[in-house]
Amino acid sequence: MVKNVIKMVDIDKRFPGVHALKDCSFELNKGEVHALIGENGAGKSTLMKILTGVYDKNGGAIYYKGKEVEINSPKAAQELGISIIHQELNLMPDLTVAENIYIGREPMRFKGIFCDSLLQNKMAKELLDNMNVKIEPTVKVEQLTVAQQQMIEIAKALSFNSEVLIMDEPTAALTESEIDELFRIIQELKAKGVGIVYISHRMEELKKICDRVTVMRDGEYVGMKNMNEVTIDEIIKMMVGREIYEGVHDLERHQNHEVVLEVKHLTSGKKVKDVSFQLRKGEILGFAGLMGAGRTEVARCLFGADPKDSGEIYINGQKVHIRSPKDAVANGIGYLSEDRKRYGLVLGLDVNTNIAMATMPKFSNRLGFLKEDQEKVNATKYIDTLSIKTPSGKQLVQNLSGGNQQKVVIGKWLTRNCDILIFDEPTRGIDVGAKSEIYKLLNELADQGMSIIMISSELPEVLRMSHRIMVMCEGKITGELSRNIATQERIMTCATDRTA
Ligand SMILES: Nc1ncnc2c1ncn2[C@@H]1O[C@H](COP(=O)(O)OP(=O)(O)OP(=O)(O)O)[C@@H](O)[C@H]1O
Ligand SMILES: [Mg+2]
Repeated sequence: MVKNVIKMVDIDKRFPGVHALKDCSFELNKGEVHALIGENGAGKSTLMKILTGVYDKNGGAIYYKGKEVEINSPKAAQELGISIIHQELNLMPDLTVAENIYIGREPMRFKGIFCDSLLQNKMAKELLDNMNVKIEPTVKVEQLTVAQQQMIEIAKALSFNSEVLIMDEPTAALTESEIDELFRIIQELKAKGVGIVYISHRMEELKKICDRVTVMRDGEYVGMKNMNEVTIDEIIKMMVGREIYEGVHDLERHQNHEVVLEVKHLTSGKKVKDVSFQLRKGEILGFAGLMGAGRTEVARCLFGADPKDSGEIYINGQKVHIRSPKDAVANGIGYLSEDRKRYGLVLGLDVNTNIAMATMPKFSNRLGFLKEDQEKVNATKYIDTLSIKTPSGKQLVQNLSGGNQQKVVIGKWLTRNCDILIFDEPTRGIDVGAKSEIYKLLNELADQGMSIIMISSELPEVLRMSHRIMVMCEGKITGELSRNIATQERIMTCATDRTA
């Protein structure tokens, strides 16, 4: 009897200009959680897209329960019992939660003419209740946060009752408690015999739920280990094959620098309530808090993307009026949004253009024609410094791996030469190696005098990077901690407002 449900042997895949997979192998047992690990662009998503019929393979074989199969379409994969939660969210914003979950297989009534929406909503509600997710089936997806959308993707995949479930970075946008919930669901599925492929850049998760780990590097299979026979350090070494930067910097230096940004009593809608803080030159100011605490809303308001109801903003002591992102950019503020697909990138354009995008006047002549060569020189610089993995600057951004798309957004704002940069979850979906590169870069930018606001849900990251930490809860600032007294516990106390 064969033990594995899936066996992929010598899989080969080429895209124009990219040899994405070279003789890659992978296997998955019934009831196993198998981690698939590798740096951004290593080929993890591509391998799983081949398994789920999204891409054709150029070589190699796939066995399902011991029998060789051809999986030519996502539908064929679903019929075999293989489903996937894609890394990039694929929901339809103007449809409801229930409509998204059952799209294409709606329960019908009147001889199959009408969708039975009542039944559909009931089914969706049961599914979500079972996951302990409190989202109404009838709300439109566009009203949900990234984390909530992720939960809907998971619910959708579960609704297929598959024997194999692939999760491509399911926790990237989730809070701690949502992650716990997901892990509980994973344990249940495992007990039912479902095999799970788990892709994540959060190394600390692997030990908690995975049985085995397969490591990939540059489109190649590096090795497979039993989780209890390997340390996280060994896994990291297998995936990057080099040393990782550990930055420490002078923490007290910024106390006396001048204030570049001062926010007084900022209020906007229901999410931002009387927020005041100062940002100094060359400072990295961390913003911690639980999902929904209002951190992103403060950023959006500062950037002119959301209207402010009251409050004042001063830049270098001068009161400014920021009514649109254009005003913000003119005042030297840049914003790297957490939702890069919606706000950060134009996926159908190439890398060079995306990087130049926040700085168009610089790259067009007086008649409005683009100076493509300058655009290219500039983009090449950031492709190098940020190690963006792409065959050239002419590649469409939609063809880059998730983590590399994030780096393009960073390149775009660095081109702009802002004085104040707001990074919203800058390392979400970014591998350990590139993460440390981004930390290094943030430190360098701060050293050069740029002031940085860093919103992050990863406490170790906030503690490691920030000179000072503001904590938010329910739209209000509930704590300000200097780096030398900040601990995870102190931050959490303020974030849940147990001080009140
Ligand atoms: N549709 C495509 N067209 C061209 N190149 C592609 C396409 N999809 C992926 N690639 C390239 O294949 C390589 C592997 O990408 P893949 O998305 O599988 O990486 P990944 O391991 O999932 O990375 P990440 O952790 O950033 O999500 C990358 O170099 C990527 O740019
Ligand atoms: Mg990927």
